[in-house]
Amino acid sequence: MDGLMAERKYLSSKYFYDKRGSEIFQVIMRMPEYYLTDCELEIFEKQKQEIYAAFSQNSSAFELVELGAGDGLKTKILLSYFLAKNNDFEYAPIDISETAVHQLLNDLEKEFPSLKTRALIGDYFHLLEELNHQNIPKVIMFLGSNIGNFSWDEAVSFLSELRRQMKENDLLFIGFDLKKDSRIILNAYSDPHGHTAAFNLNLLQRMNRELEADFNLSNFKHLETYDEDNGATKSFLISQQKQKVYFSKFEEEISFEKGEGIFMEISQKYDEQMIQGLASAAGFEVKKNFYDSRRYYLNSLWEL
Ligand code: TRP
Repeated sequence: MDGLMAERKYLSSKYFYDKRGSEIFQVIMRMPEYYLTDCELEIFEKQKQEIYAAFSQNSSAFELVELGAGDGLKTKILLSYFLAKNNDFEYAPIDISETAVHQLLNDLEKEFPSLKTRALIGDYFHLLEELNHQNIPKVIMFLGSNIGNFSWDEAVSFLSELRRQMKENDLLFIGFDLKKDSRIILNAYSDPHGHTAAFNLNLLQRMNRELEADFNLSNFKHLETYDEDNGATKSFLISQQKQKVYFSKFEEEISFEKGEGIFMEISQKYDEQMIQGLASAAGFEVKKNFYDSRRYYLNSLWEL
């Protein structure tokens, strides 16, 4: 409600992931236009040896923490390779989507019965403290360009908070989507199948159901923008007409002008200089960058 009553309306993207939202999200991750998945898969497939060497440099026993693990599609490549190398690590997936975590645990048990897991469901910001339960070094993974869903300032404060929770030999491994031809980006985030549109509109549906609102979904249209200068990719829902939406649960009415947008999410695209700047601002050193062959994407390994 704060977001909808603000001067420039916004909704927080963490609310996307109800059951239906999580399902649509999985479809997005797997569609060919969504190049990010392929890039990260390729990096893991082709460079898992180097990645393992880097993760285990300080200690062969480590806690592999994943923030926003989702369905683990990409991580399984690493898990499978790491398990073949040693059985000394524990995998701790954290996700806000209950559906995703339950499915992931099910899958992992079947595919990797010897894998030690410790799953946490919730807002990873609030779960950070729970990571420090063991004395072995942590390798924290934040994949899939999830860092891009923060604004610059939010990213700096999130990473600084992570930094405070990390110890000497801990590592941070982050997936960054790189700036590129806007046509490639818009095709991924404003896909021809309409999955991303459905994903955004689903949050209105969720509010109708859970907050007793009366959004008419056909009165809103998904819009994706990319700013070549600063690399910000943003999604909006644009009101197609002047209209009012009533929330019975709060007895509040929200008015929309024709053409007025609700800002839904940012998906920041970076270049190497920005990544370096982000690391420094949060108190990290960039140890190594792992690129895909098209240089669309990179996984950056940071140390204290
Ligand atoms: N963090 C990823 C990205 O920004 C995945 C993601 C989050 C996403 N929300 C999304 C992808 C909405 C498509 C649409 O790309």
